[in-house]
Amino acid sequence: MNRIKADKQDFKLSLTKKADTVNRAIEDYLAEQQDIEPQIKKAISYVLNAPGKRIRAAMVLWCCQLCDGNINNDAVNTAIAVEMIHTYSLVHDDLPAMDDDDLRRGQQSCHKAFGESTAILTGDALLTMAFELLASRISDDSIAIRLIKTLSQAAGPAGMIAGQMADIAGQQTQGSLDELRYIHKNKTAKMFAAAAALGAICGKATENKIESLYKYGLNIGLGFQVADDILDISATSRQLGKTAGKDSKQGKTTYPSVIGMQQSKKTASQLADRAIEELKDFDSNADLLRHLALELVKRTN
Ligand code: IPE
Ligand code: IPE
Ligand code: MG
Ligand code: MG
Ligand code: MG
Repeated sequence: MNRIKADKQDFKLSLTKKADTVNRAIEDYLAEQQDIEPQIKKAISYVLNAPGKRIRAAMVLWCCQLCDGNINNDAVNTAIAVEMIHTYSLVHDDLPAMDDDDLRRGQQSCHKAFGESTAILTGDALLTMAFELLASRISDDSIAIRLIKTLSQAAGPAGMIAGQMADIAGQQTQGSLDELRYIHKNKTAKMFAAAAALGAICGKATENKIESLYKYGLNIGLGFQVADDILDISATSRQLGKTAGKDSKQGKTTYPSVIGMQQSKKTASQLADRAIEELKDFDSNADLLRHLALELVKRTN
C-alpha cells in the first residue's frame, strides 16, 4: 500500500471533520423544521443526534470533494438525507418484530425510549423527510431527480428492504454463502454504493467516475457488513453502542457462522482491496477513500 500518500491520521481527522459538518447540518436542518409534530420531533432529534459514525454521509462529502474539488451545498444536503435514511433503517431494524434490540448508538433504542408506535412513525418520518429534503433543497431539479432515483433504488424493495427481508426470512435456517452475499449486498452495500455515487453526482462527475465510485462503495459496504458480523462476536456492547452477541442468539446467517472467523477476516480484507482497485483511475486525491477501505474492515466499533 505504499502508493497511498495520505496516512491513517489524515483519514481519522478527515472523518471527524466530515462527521462534524454532518452533525451541524443536521442540527440546523432540524432547528428550521417548525411544523413537525412535537413528540415525533423529539424522537427524530433523539435518534438523529445520537453519536453515529456518519460514515455513509461522510462518503457523500468525500466523493463530492474528489470530483468537484470542494464540498458544495448539494452534497451537504444529500449527506443529511443519507443519514436520515440510514437512521430510519436502524430504528426499524431494532424493533421487537425485527432484531429486537434495546441499545443503539450508546443509548436506549427508539422504541425503548418512546414506545413502539412512535418508533415506527419516527422511521416513517425520517424516510419521508429525506426525500422531501432532496426534492426541495438541491440547486438543480435534474440533479435532484437523479439523487432521489439513486437513493430510493438503494433503500427500496430492490435494495435495503430486500436485504432486510432476506435477513429476517433466513433466521433459524443456516443459509449458504450465496444467500449471505445477497443479504449483505442488499441490506448494506447498496446504501454505501449509493452514498458514493450521490457524492459524485453532486460533484458533477463524469458517468465513468460515478460508476467507479458506485462500485467502490459497493465493495466498501460488503466489507463493512462482514466487519459488523465479526464485531458482533468479538466486540463488547460498550464498544459497539449496541448489543453484542445478538446474531448467534437470533440464529442469523452471518459470515463467521458460514465460513468461520479467520475466513471472514480474510474476506473483509479482500473486499477492501477490491474497493481500492475501483479507484485506479483516480489520483492521490482519492487516498483518503483508499484509507477508508482499509480502516473500515479493521474497525473496532
Ligand atoms: C450499522 O451501521 C448498521 C449496519 C449496516 C451494519 P453503522 O455501524 O454505520 O451505524 P452507526 O450509524 O455508526 O450507528
Ligand atoms: C442492519 O444489519 C442493516 C440495516 C439496518 C439495513 P444489522 O442488523 O446487522 O445491523 P446492527 O448490527 O443491528 O447494527
Ligand atoms: Mg438486522
Ligand atoms: Mg440489527
Ligand atoms: Mg449487525
